Amino acid sequence: MEIISYLIYLIASILFIFGIKKLGSPKTARQGNFLSSLGMFLAVVITLFDQRVLTFEYILIGIIIGSAVGAVMALKVPMTGMPQMVGLLNGFGGGASALVAFAEYYHIMNTAGTFDVATGVTLVLSVLIGAVTFTGSFIAFGKLQGFITGKVVKYPLQNPINILLLLMVLAAGVIVVLEPANDSNLLGIAGVSLILGVLLVLPIGGADMPVAVSLLNSYSGLAASMTGFVLQNNMLIIAGALVGASGIILTLIMCRGMNRSLMNVVLGGWEDAGSGGAGSGDGPQGDVKSVDAEELAMILDSAQNVVIVPGYGMAVAQAQHAVRDLTNILEKKNINVRFAIHPVAGRMPGHMNVLLAEAQVSYDKLFALEDINDDFPNVDVALIIGANDVVNPAARHDQSSPIYGMPILNVDYAKTVVINKRSMNVGYAGIQNELFFYPNALMFFGSAKEAVNKLVNEIKEL
Ligand code: TAP
Repeated sequence: MEIISYLIYLIASILFIFGIKKLGSPKTARQGNFLSSLGMFLAVVITLFDQRVLTFEYILIGIIIGSAVGAVMALKVPMTGMPQMVGLLNGFGGGASALVAFAEYYHIMNTAGTFDVATGVTLVLSVLIGAVTFTGSFIAFGKLQGFITGKVVKYPLQNPINILLLLMVLAAGVIVVLEPANDSNLLGIAGVSLILGVLLVLPIGGADMPVAVSLLNSYSGLAASMTGFVLQNNMLIIAGALVGASGIILTLIMCRGMNRSLMNVVLGGWEDAGSGGAGSGDGPQGDVKSVDAEELAMILDSAQNVVIVPGYGMAVAQAQHAVRDLTNILEKKNINVRFAIHPVAGRMPGHMNVLLAEAQVSYDKLFALEDINDDFPNVDVALIIGANDVVNPAARHDQSSPIYGMPILNVDYAKTVVINKRSMNVGYAGIQNELFFYPNALMFFGSAKEAVNKLVNEIKEL
């Protein structure tokens, strides 16, 4: 039985690794998801059999209930609610790791009566990281769902208090390792870590939450990996390490896409982030030119090369199907249509790719920033649908701008830039966009879905 379970753990680990590899491209992502979940299924079932935790009937009942809950969540949660759902799931992962570490602690104390230093250290880390992830993720969920203020929360002595709490946990951790018999130290670590989770995530602005959720995802992997060491379960160590590493890579990709340091996000860097208000008014001023659907239809009709730049507004308006219809009708007129995807367009990694895939826009029309940016001077019309910060040229030259240095899509180099949004309001970074006042820029006002549908109808009538 032991050899079989090792073998199945090995197969599951390989499935995880190939699954993650396949998630790297939209074409193979579904397969990757399937392989990874198959790996997890095998790992769960063999663990339950191997440890004789449950009988066959209970496993079956668990699978049915778990699958039903998962299916309902997958169907019900809207695309825009995905970050908070991931946040919630991370929280459960972290909480589970802390609980398993506790169970193992009592098991060891009731059998062997003591443990070595390595087990002690991993036990403490498992409880610390698991508990921080648990409460931190629930605060992230609350902020994204609007239950808790999405604003940056700052209070006096914020960082010294956090550092003090962390030092208390570490001191108690040393005592646990030296004097394992007294369980109150480990319970104390859990209590303080739960508070630390709240205090660490509370200051982060609601709109920075996707980055925080990705970081917490990485923590939940680390917690699981630590629990793997405690249980001496290689499978859990590997799976946890994969989650920990991929979570931190994703976090860094997001920070790089915004040209911000992780510290800046974690310490509640942008007061205005995500406010989406009317802007400070001290940004660029002047006249803007606007077009209606009929005029824009004529402009597009005479173009040969069109690049569509989707952003958060397309997601909010759920305009991806209308955008697909627009693409189809332009292509029927032999106009070359491509999509330029900024790495942090929208509010979560891959946001635009997922929406466009849902609307069945073919992957080969989607171009990453670095693959399309040099081509904008050859583009007749760059059509921006609900994007703002990711096309703000101030990022290239205005050192006083909060987005200075952030890589942006060079839409202003296109012959004509058309910007669809509802008003002159700012985007996530809370700053006005100078692009709107450029001589080659035209505003196409309206909510994305209605506006694009109207445009499609106008093109049909040409
Ligand atoms: P934003 O800069 O947030 O701008 C979105 C624009 O969409 C707004 O200016 C808004 O203008 C418009 N809009 C809202 N509802 C609309 C509707 N129904 N129809 C048409 N337009 C609508 O979006 P972006 O350019 O995609 O940039 C993303 C921002 O989020 C970046 O600053 C990025 O750093 C940040 N961020 C991204 C991520 C990830 S991982 N993607 C994570 C955290 C933060 P109106 O109100 O005038 O319509």
